[in-house]
Amino acid sequence: MQGKKSFSRVLGTGGYLPGKPVTNQDLVNRLRELDVETSDEWIRERSGITSRYFCGKMSTRDMGCIAAKQAIEAASIDVTSIDLIIVATTTPDLVFPSVACHIERDLGLERCTSFDIQAVCSGFVYALTIADLFLKTGTKNNALVIGAERLSTILNWRDRSTCVLFGDGAGAVILGKNSVPGIIASDISSSGKFCDILRATGTPKNGVLEGTGYAEMQGQEVFRKAVESLSESGMKLLNACDLDVESIDWFIPHQANIRIINKVAEKLNVPDSKVVKCVHKHANTSAASIPLALNEGITSGQIHFGDRLLLQGVGGGLTWGSILMDL
Ligand code: ACO
Repeated sequence: MQGKKSFSRVLGTGGYLPGKPVTNQDLVNRLRELDVETSDEWIRERSGITSRYFCGKMSTRDMGCIAAKQAIEAASIDVTSIDLIIVATTTPDLVFPSVACHIERDLGLERCTSFDIQAVCSGFVYALTIADLFLKTGTKNNALVIGAERLSTILNWRDRSTCVLFGDGAGAVILGKNSVPGIIASDISSSGKFCDILRATGTPKNGVLEGTGYAEMQGQEVFRKAVESLSESGMKLLNACDLDVESIDWFIPHQANIRIINKVAEKLNVPDSKVVKCVHKHANTSAASIPLALNEGITSGQIHFGDRLLLQGVGGGLTWGSILMDL
């Protein structure tokens, strides 16, 4: 059927951080009991993080569902109009079924297309790009796209170079089919040759976990590759769309480390006043970090309808990506 061109547009957002904030000092005290030495000063100076949230007994699905319900309410859509659910997560509750299928059931839905995708900290950018393609081709109408993580379950509390940097949480958006963009363009990439610089090697085999199951990272190498890939991807996307960086109202990068965020903003020539930063509040929540930052920007009144956004993610794989969109 020949008809009008379809695009996708964000209709609503939601975000959830579990429990109470765990400050750097709280963490310093807890780690001291394990004979692991760190300090508030070290964590703040090297990463910009001041607190994080841990999910305790809550599941990835529970957190994702709370964020999803907020996004559905903000979008003012009937939940039954959702026909696609994509959950970006590296910490699913089960090997299978997917978190997305569980959330489909928890929302009382049937006959959606629901699946998880795994691109670590780039997961949300990947998931939003996939949802956009479904909506553009006209096969789906309203997508629920979630980033949800319980990273605390894969942290080695004896490895101070990683355990102080991560937290748990979930963010969600409703993406609806629209006659105008919305999502202008996206660029998602990977380079498997860097598989080993950021990884968690655990996998169930014959009922037993093989590998450590813990996140491991070559911090300085990840730092370098993150800055390089994000600045290149941002420039590539802007050039492909024939847009200047000045046309961007808000830069929403993956919230991993304030030094990476500042360096990429500097390389892209985005002024600090246009950068959404919330890594200090909830640390690195991997796939949840971008939808949490987007939700924070909107609910705090910084970001408004019609603003042009540049979203960027980077994570294990190495994977990375950028999305240009009008809200
Ligand atoms: N507390 C106190 N000291 C610490 C801690 C800690 N939590 N962790 C490491 N140190 C020590 C090291 O042992 C080392 O001590 P030494 O000099 O006596 O050997 C010293 O601090 C410096 O260690 P480096 O690893 O060189 O510190 P660096 O300045 O590189 O900072 C960091 C480490 C923050 C991990 C940095 O490399 C970084 O930001 N990397 C980017 C990685 C990142 O943000 N990853 C998030 C996940 S990936 C993603 O989302 C893209």
